Amino acid sequence: MLILGIETTCDETAAAVVQDGRTVLSSVVASQIDLHAKFGGVVPEIASRAHLESLHPIISEALAAAQVTGPQLDAIAVANAPGLIGCLLIGVSAAKALAFAWSKPLVAVNHVQAHLYSTLLEEGPARKPLSPDPGPLTPLFPAVGLVISGGHSSIYHVRAFDDVQRIGHTHDDAVGEAFDKVAAILQLGYPGGPEIDALARQGNENAIDFPISLLERDSLDFSFSGLKTAVLYHVNGKKGRERDASSLSPQQKADVAASFQRVAATILVEKLRRATRQYEARCLIVGGGVSANSAIRTRVQALGRELRRPVFIPPMKYCTDNAAMIAGLACPLLQSGKVADLTLEAVATT
Ligand code: KG4
Ligand code: ZN
Repeated sequence: MLILGIETTCDETAAAVVQDGRTVLSSVVASQIDLHAKFGGVVPEIASRAHLESLHPIISEALAAAQVTGPQLDAIAVANAPGLIGCLLIGVSAAKALAFAWSKPLVAVNHVQAHLYSTLLEEGPARKPLSPDPGPLTPLFPAVGLVISGGHSSIYHVRAFDDVQRIGHTHDDAVGEAFDKVAAILQLGYPGGPEIDALARQGNENAIDFPISLLERDSLDFSFSGLKTAVLYHVNGKKGRERDASSLSPQQKADVAASFQRVAATILVEKLRRATRQYEARCLIVGGGVSANSAIRTRVQALGRELRRPVFIPPMKYCTDNAAMIAGLACPLLQSGKVADLTLEAVATT
């Protein structure tokens, strides 16, 4: 089964062709980072205009790279929720037009659920076992799923990839947003996550005791704004206005990055531990841009060993936004008859 996936929920214009829900034949991602960098965040109008300009060539490139023509496809899949409404509309309109022109089924995919599914994507033939005891190659359900990105920090009870229920979310910033804001406080580049990750390698993660906010004892929700403010006050002084990051030595900056990253990872891991216990999960699935973070990957793997649960984290290139995860998840949706029609709407929040 060959599915074309289209992703335009935020600031990446992407198209991909995936075979049988797992094998990525092509995955083209055009990042808009350069357009938004000078604003320190995504500007919705600029993002939708850029999708409009680049989506058509990106789709053509994805089909050409996969050596597939439109009529050979079995379906067109699009991320129709959640995201920036102007951005979503570009992808949804394009997908409808192609589905109509080629008389193909249209499949609506939830972007956040697709982040969890991305753990199943592979480029070659079947995934090779990494060790004599590789554990299961696909997740066992029920699972606990954690999606951590610039727009989301949520925990899900996953009964199947197309049957998920949100059981925890952030009360304020998403964890990726906190990484980006802490990077801005440290006067690093945008997006900040990869910069913090790299700088933290030179730092002492125990140098500074930033607060670990876990909310109520059984809560699966997150709050990252207190941590972000604590970093601001530590770097810029009282009320965040006395000095700035230029007064720190390179070592002090690295210590801030490492200490912040340790606390963010500690919060995420503790919530996963709670959710696994509360929902008797058989495995852990983590996805989204922040799952590319080296410290978080290490800590989640360690948690899996502690709880004796297999851990599924996508390959690095499928952690951040891409269309392969959209085309991939569309396969089980299509197989269970979840097909949309040309009245499909873009939905900003779900
Ligand atoms: O999933 P994604 O591409 O887009 C959204 O759906 O939001 O995630 C982007 C987020 C950004 O906040 C970026 O700073 C963060 O993922 N990110 C990282 C790393 N790589 C990307 N955060 C921490 N460490 C990383 N290595
Ligand atoms: Zn995303």
